[in-house]
This record gives sequence, structure tokens and C-alpha cells, in this order.
Amino acid sequence: MVDAFLFVGLPYIAIVTAVIGCVWRARTNRFSMSSRSSQFLEDRKLLWGSAPWHIGIIVVLLGHILAGVLPQVWSSILTVPGALIAIETVGVACALLAIVGLSALIYRRVTSARVQAVTTTTDLVVVALLLVQIVLGLLSAVHFRYGSAWSTGTVVPYFWGLVTFRPDMTYVADFPMLFKLHLVGAWFIILLLPFTRLMHLLAVPLQYLWRAPQLVIWNTTRRRQHAVAATIQADSRRAFLKGAAGVAGATGLMALGVSEKALNFFKGPHPDPEADSALLQKKLQRLQLTAEERSYELERQRNDMILVARYAELAENKGRYFIDYAMAPGLAFKGKDGLPLVISAKCTHLGCTVGSELDAQGRVMCPCHISYFDVQTGKPNDGAPAKLPLPQVGWALVDSTGKVVLSRKPGESMQGKVDAALLPQCSLYITKPGRGIA
Ligand code: FES
Repeated sequence: MVDAFLFVGLPYIAIVTAVIGCVWRARTNRFSMSSRSSQFLEDRKLLWGSAPWHIGIIVVLLGHILAGVLPQVWSSILTVPGALIAIETVGVACALLAIVGLSALIYRRVTSARVQAVTTTTDLVVVALLLVQIVLGLLSAVHFRYGSAWSTGTVVPYFWGLVTFRPDMTYVADFPMLFKLHLVGAWFIILLLPFTRLMHLLAVPLQYLWRAPQLVIWNTTRRRQHAVAATIQADSRRAFLKGAAGVAGATGLMALGVSEKALNFFKGPHPDPEADSALLQKKLQRLQLTAEERSYELERQRNDMILVARYAELAENKGRYFIDYAMAPGLAFKGKDGLPLVISAKCTHLGCTVGSELDAQGRVMCPCHISYFDVQTGKPNDGAPAKLPLPQVGWALVDSTGKVVLSRKPGESMQGKVDAALLPQCSLYITKPGRGIA
């Protein structure tokens, strides 16, 4: 329910509010859209904040936009050897640059009395929100590496689902909290757009990037003023042409991606009956699977123990997969001491299922982004994308009469005793978290 609001309701509220609010503000109060330059009040600290912030955030935003709007182009870029590492490195470097720049700008706002005089509470809220947002983005990029690759199969379809009015939050609902916060932060920033100075990014004067420094004249003769005005006019014209070329290029690029989606959307309700029915079929299958999964889950919740395998079926070097109470995969091994070893098989990085075969060091591997987990401790290897250990799962050994002879809860010591000769006649069960074992 919360996810449905945050990842479907909130985006639509944010987009509708932003579009209506921005149009309304542009029509009724267009001069309020600027970022209100404070350069003439203080320019030394501004230099150290504004340039890094704008360069960093523009590069990061362009990366997000390109991946979102032209996913096929983005994916083909990633197939170039070394491109993924280069993109990730540039992204992280630019995020750091933006954080340094924005921190300098915040410091300037709160320490310069002159700048403070033109700073509103909303400005401070916005810059704080931007800082939190970019820090969350950076942490997500570092903790869940290679986002530029895996986002094309998760965040991008989620985004296009919203754009084509076929929202599907399941693409992002299972994401780690850090990444979810980053996503929600983005919708909040879009929501606030028309009510803040941030709206100036929609009227971005691209020519600022390459125009000549601005000449500010406080007091001079009329003739000189005319000469300066003429120079400024010529500069502005040149800058306008450059800016228009930049905007046209960017618009063309975006139009490539948008046009295909828009075309499909506006083709009408039956653009291609076969494609429509295939899509419906897919949706139906997905719904059926979800319903089956839910009823299976409920059925499991009714039992205090779930059968994993007969003891004789357990092996030391190859785990046996099972589904736990939370419908997540798990693995059961025979430990070196001959007793069961039961752990979750859901990778703590982004939730892939880890492999079942042990390597020479007694580890299983997650194939998605290469993390190795020690099955004894669950811990990932140093430098792995996954940072948290695979959790242990509570288990019980039940003998042929149906009696629990040995059991273990995660993090606790073994309960019970069993004769090694009787082990082959026992069966392994996982136990319901938080339940005592009869
Ligand atoms: S999901 Fe990324 S390492 Fe497992």
C-alpha cells in the first residue's frame, strides 16, 4: 500500500503538480522563475560552489536522462569494453563534485549576511533536499554497484510504465531502502519544482556555459552605456544562437526516444491486436503467478515447519534449494560436522539467487555482480558489491516417528541430541521465524 503510493501515486501527483504549477507560474509570474543571481552580493565563495555544483549535477542528470529516454542506445554503449567502468567512475566523480559545490553554496548562504538577506526558508529547504538527494544517489551507486547497467532492466521499465500509463511498481518495490529513498526524493523534488527557485532549471540559459563574462556597469556616461549595450546585445545574440543550437540538439535526442513511445500511445486503443493480446496475456500470467504465489505463501504461513529434504539428500559441496517463509530462496548443505547448514540464498546486494555449488574456499557465488559468501558465516568477501552476510535460517531435524530430535534457531546454539547412526532416517525442515519448536 505504502509502495503503491510512493511509486505510483506520488509520481503522478508530482508530475501533474509540476506541469500545471510551472505553466501557471510561467504565465502569471515569469520573472520569478530566475534563480535570482546573488553574484553582485558575494562572488568569491560563489565561484567555488557554483561551478563544481553545476558541472557535477548537469553531467549526472544527463546520464540519468539518457539512460531513461534512450535505453537501447544506453545499453549498446554499455556493451563497449570498459564503458561501464568509465561511466560509473565519471558518475561518482561528478556526484562528488556536485556535493562539494553544493556544500560550498550552502556554507555561503548561511555565512554571508548579504546573501542571507535574499535567502528564503524555501531556498534552504530546497538546497538541503538536493544535498540529501545527491548523497543518497552517491551512496546507492557505491553500495549497489553498476546501477547504470542494472537500472535498464528495473528503473527504466518502471519509468516508462508511468509515462505510458501502465505503472508497474514491482520493478522497484523490492529495491533496498537506500535506493527507494533516492527515488522518492526525486519525486519530491519534482513536486516542489513550481514552488521554488529550482524552476529556473526549466529556463536554463545554456548560453551561460560559454558566453563571455557579464559586464556590470554601475555608473557611466550615456555614450559609454550605449556602446556597452550594443556589445552586450551582440553577445546575447551570439549566445542565443549557441543556446538554441544546444536546445535543438538535446530536444532531437530526446525526441528519438519519446517519439516511439508516444506514437504507440497515441495510435489508439487497438494499434496492433496481436501485440495487445500478447501484452494482456503477459499481464494475466503475471497476475496468476502473483495470486498463486500469495496463496502458496499463506499456506506456508499456516505451518510451523516446512520440509526441505531428507537428510540423506543433503551434500557438502552442493546446496539444496528451498523456498523459505518469506518466499525467498534458501540453501541447505550438510556441514563438515555432518549436521545441516541452512542459509538464505537471496543475495544481500540486489536480491539475486546465489549459486548452490561451493568453491574451494567453501563459498557460494552470486552471479549478478560477483559476490562470494562464506556458507559457514554467511559473510561476503572483501570488496564484494554485497555488504551484508547471508542470514542463517532456523531448522529442525525430524526423525521417522515425526519427533523433532535436533533444532537450531539463527544465532542460537543447537537444541536436542541425535545419534549419528539415525541421521539418515531424519528429514530436514525449516522452522517458522519466532516460533518455538514442539
Ligand atoms: S545481486 Fe549484486 S552481487 Fe548479488
